[in-house]
Amino acid sequence: MSFGAKYKKITETIKDDLTRLEEELKSEINIYPALTEVLSGFLTTKSKHIRAVTAFLYLRASGFEPDERQYNLQTAVEIIHNASLLHDDVIDECDTRRGQTTINKGFNNKIAILTGDYLLASALDRLNRLETPEITALCTKTVREMCRGEFFQYFNLGKIPTLEQYLKKTEQKTAGLFRVAIEGAMKLAGGQNIKTASEFALNFGTAFQIRDDLLNITGPTQLKPSQNDLLCGIYNAPVIFSGNTENLAEGIEKTKDLLNNYVIKMLRLTDRLTDSKYKTALRELLELLNDA
Ligand code: FPP
Ligand code: MG
Repeated sequence: MSFGAKYKKITETIKDDLTRLEEELKSEINIYPALTEVLSGFLTTKSKHIRAVTAFLYLRASGFEPDERQYNLQTAVEIIHNASLLHDDVIDECDTRRGQTTINKGFNNKIAILTGDYLLASALDRLNRLETPEITALCTKTVREMCRGEFFQYFNLGKIPTLEQYLKKTEQKTAGLFRVAIEGAMKLAGGQNIKTASEFALNFGTAFQIRDDLLNITGPTQLKPSQNDLLCGIYNAPVIFSGNTENLAEGIEKTKDLLNNYVIKMLRLTDRLTDSKYKTALRELLELLNDA
């Protein structure tokens, strides 16, 4: 079975949650007539919504049913993620994403930044509706950390970071928002094991980014120079393990081992969840991370 088919099978278990999420996201795209169509593809149909998928699976596997507030939280997280990508594509001078022309390329940097700003405000509006300052605080801290991760990457272009620096940047750039999605969902639900949820989320986000970095080097797609981390002087796990940018075979294998260690850790963290179709789907999603 292909990656896409496996992912689709996993998300079948939370089909109704994702339909609701898409409806909520659709209600946020009427920013300006010229932008509606491009945002519709970007925010809804072309996105895998991995943060929301993981959060809904974790929540349901923990015995909780999502309510109105949960949909608001996951909508906010997805909007923040997409706003960050609009800005990231300006920073990375990227021409395509999710198979379509980026807003910075199709329009220009000004419109891409403005659209990202607008979406960020829409996400804040959703967060306000939760009336849970603790989650808003976690989210604002996370957005700040995302920017810090980007600053680190920018000011260290062309340098091979230590593994510790790389993992810190990864937590800042990516894992933090998974934490908002999953820990936030469990807090809203009044769940007990918040620490485990937080640990699971940070591990998932880190593993997800390591996989993305690995695919940037090993993936089949013909990347444009501006999308190729190596050519841009962004050195991630495979380069760190290899110690150079030319002979990456050993670094790639070690990166796969690192990724698998995160998967094993997360499988252990899900052991205590009661058996259900959601737990099975969550564990299948974990196994899928190794599909790189
Ligand atoms: C993609 O990384 C980018 C991120 C994971 C985060 C980007 C964060 C910011 C721009 C700061 C926060 C901004 C807002 C508006 C919340 P990548 O370039 O490694 O991956 P890619 O290949 O998908 O572009
Ligand atoms: Mg990028």
